[in-house]
Amino acid sequence: MRWYAGSDHAGFALKRHLVEVLRSLGDEVNDLGTEGEATVDYPDFGAAVGRAVASARNPALGLIICGTGVGISIAANKVPGVRCALCTEAFTATAARAHNDANVIAIGARVIGAGVAEACVRAFRDTGFEGGRHARRVAKLNTLDDAARGA
Ligand code: RB5
Repeated sequence: MRWYAGSDHAGFALKRHLVEVLRSLGDEVNDLGTEGEATVDYPDFGAAVGRAVASARNPALGLIICGTGVGISIAANKVPGVRCALCTEAFTATAARAHNDANVIAIGARVIGAGVAEACVRAFRDTGFEGGRHARRVAKLNTLDDAARGA
């Protein structure tokens, strides 16, 4: 699986850890920053990952992290084609993929520890979209994207 990852300063250390976890599983991760603990603005990184995932030629997933996960998930969800889920435990991460076909996972580095964050990312990575009745609902989400694009 191909991933795009991004964080602000608050999420930097956890992002570095989770990127290593994904690479150790054989995934390809393009880290879009930030590069250290100097203060930056989370919308820049949420938007960058969102745009990369939404415009990827082949299916890709996104991993974004800030202090709470809230700001960076809001930014990513402004990008049409992004379905970003803020997760604090693995059940939500699993359901976000199975039911919502979420393509970006957001984590709050000041909210959960590295072990729980890793469980969330592994659940997200290892779960596929169930389709069926969920496909109708995701199609309605896509209609909202079309409206946002002015299509
Ligand atoms: C940065 O201090 C913090 O506001 C940010 O990481 C995030 O929690 C915003 O939602």
